Amino acid sequence: MRVAFVGKGGSGKTTMSALFARYVASQGAPVVAIDADINQHLALVLGVEEPPEPLGAHLTEIKDHLRGDNPRIPSAAAMVKTTPPGRGSKLLSFEELASYEHGVTTAEGVRLMATGPFNEDDLGVACYHSKVGAVELLLNHLIDGQGEYVVVDMTAGSDSFASGLFTRFDLTLLVVEPTRQGVGVYRQYRDYAADFQVPLAVVGNKVHDPSDVDFLREHVGHHLLAWMEHSAAVRAMEQGRPLTLDDLEPGNADTLAMLLKHVDEQEKDWVRFGRQTAEFHLRNAHAWANDKTGVDLGAQIDPEFVYGP
Ligand SMILES: Nc1ncnc2c1ncn2[C@@H]1O[C@H](COP(=O)(O)OP(=O)(O)OP(=O)(O)O)[C@@H](O)[C@H]1O
Ligand SMILES: [Mg+2]
Repeated sequence: MRVAFVGKGGSGKTTMSALFARYVASQGAPVVAIDADINQHLALVLGVEEPPEPLGAHLTEIKDHLRGDNPRIPSAAAMVKTTPPGRGSKLLSFEELASYEHGVTTAEGVRLMATGPFNEDDLGVACYHSKVGAVELLLNHLIDGQGEYVVVDMTAGSDSFASGLFTRFDLTLLVVEPTRQGVGVYRQYRDYAADFQVPLAVVGNKVHDPSDVDFLREHVGHHLLAWMEHSAAVRAMEQGRPLTLDDLEPGNADTLAMLLKHVDEQEKDWVRFGRQTAEFHLRNAHAWANDKTGVDLGAQIDPEFVYGP
């Protein structure tokens, strides 16, 4: 099951992604956490000293692996972030994703992978998105199931809508602070999510008192799944004290359990994944990728290919 944490800058996506991944691991389930942001903060909150080798630095290798012997994709250069799998492509099982070499495993058993930091070669939006493209390609080729978890810490704001990546999840958790700005971002996401049939739930964050919860209920309504209170344990971690899940306030620990339960209740919709993979590929092909690669990328869509296990 794939879960994305999205939301406004600073709302708590990284904190929540890391705590959720740690909670899943504490329940004995296999979990891959992916930092799809360029800030590379996730490693820190997971307690990893040395962040993993960035996926963005291995894009060609990843493409060559995934295209396998798909005759519609003759080279890595012809493969863009939205290129869908077809007959001959190499599909990834969860185990294969979790054992991909460019990752690190935390002491608690979370497997961490990362897009990679922004560097001097990344001037311009296209390059930045092509780095995040490694994550999109991996998710497009992943065949995962119940009891296996991929947790993705996304970039802030509506950047995540610039590609098809936001449609690749079984559940999108939107982190919302109880402020007018916070719920403003909620409205924007709610509308995007509805347009693309993306399952969405809101997790309130940095809640101080019952009036904060009332505010969220009023503005978010039925989408409000759970909330985290402002956490002294999280604050202490940011001040340099190592955080274990046992340090977390009971209400916040309950919230993590509730999120996991909700993820487990989702049904996989491989038909939607397949349809949207093709849809976003065509959009990207027309917008920039046909020009960039000099080929008609629409021909990469294999009409006979069926998504799913
Ligand atoms: N429940 C909480 N209690 C206390 N502090 C919190 C809580 N959630 C997040 N924070 C703090 O808020 C700050 C922002 O959190 P975080 O980095 O997780 O947000 P983000 O949405 O990932 O930000 P960015 O958009 O920069 O990636 C951090 O200092 C974090 O420790
Ligand atoms: Mg972050």
